[in-house]
Amino acid sequence: MGIIEDLEALRAEGLAAVGAAGDLPALGAARVAYLGKKGSLTGILRGLGALSAEERPAAGQASNAVRVALEEAIAARETALSAVELDRKVAAEAVDVTLPGRRRAPGHCHLIDRITDEIVEIFLGLGYRVAEGPEVELDYYNFTALNHAPEHPARAATDTFYARDLSGEAYEGIGLSDVLLRTHTSPVQVRHLEKCPPPVYIIAPGRVYRRDIADPSHLPQFHQVEGLVVDEGITFGDLKGTLDHFCKAMFGEERRTRFRPHYFPFTEPSAEVDVSCGICGGAGCRFCKNSGWLEILGCGMVDPNVFGYVDIDTERYTGFAFGMGVERIAALKYGVPDLRMLVEGDMRFLRQF
Ligand code: PHE
Repeated sequence: MGIIEDLEALRAEGLAAVGAAGDLPALGAARVAYLGKKGSLTGILRGLGALSAEERPAAGQASNAVRVALEEAIAARETALSAVELDRKVAAEAVDVTLPGRRRAPGHCHLIDRITDEIVEIFLGLGYRVAEGPEVELDYYNFTALNHAPEHPARAATDTFYARDLSGEAYEGIGLSDVLLRTHTSPVQVRHLEKCPPPVYIIAPGRVYRRDIADPSHLPQFHQVEGLVVDEGITFGDLKGTLDHFCKAMFGEERRTRFRPHYFPFTEPSAEVDVSCGICGGAGCRFCKNSGWLEILGCGMVDPNVFGYVDIDTERYTGFAFGMGVERIAALKYGVPDLRMLVEGDMRFLRQF
């Protein structure tokens, strides 16, 4: 058989192989088999040398034509197979944009922070400013300058968290060490008056600590908001009016307040303030233990002894102070039966607020 016939057979066979290639790797293999260095066409071309000078041009032309035909067929097949491949990939990686998304609950302010903000906001509206003090406090600010006697029971290690003195030196102070976790926000009164002369109108929110076992009405760590006013001519009437306004703004215009005489070392006279029960309207129910009233804060006129510690002229100035527990107010406002629920982080409960 002549070389021309061999080339024609190769063209037919090659075109068939290209047509049969089902994917790009198969097509690549066909290219190597027919056009590669060790491929069939190269094999035939090696025979050209044995031809006579007259036969050679025609054979050369024919082999070129076969190469071009195969290359074109391979290129066309490659385009077609690539398109198929792309379709397959697109189908496999398709995303169903109509599927419902995974809902992510947005975070929100904890009830305690929200109530704190509400309390602070009411007093900002009356012209007060926010003051702050440290949670790790000195005995002097937490007790002594607030007129607590050296033997006052609140100083006991059973009531207050003290920092242990690791220096090894004998401690000569009043409590167990000079450093403690503040048991109320009242030390902010002293710190503020040390720095700022009257007139003073401040509100001081913050964390406080007491050595209590957590139960429905106690937490070893909770939040208070302290208030302090020092100015000329401040009277108990100003205190009553201010706290009555606060209770109505916080709990509702229909709520009433009452002041019961009480004792605090740093105020004189002192009182506890009750707000009328929101559940029974004051008639008496289980929530208010049948009294019709709920205790919400402690207050009083600043004791002259406290002014003595901060060098304020008691002839010229008088003042009042009050302190309230944020957890307690939150519990009263929303009927939370157990303060521990506020710190346990159970979202089924916290989400409601
Ligand atoms: N510090 C007091 C307490 O924690 C509350 C209080 C503050 C009372 C200011 C009078 C004046 O119970």
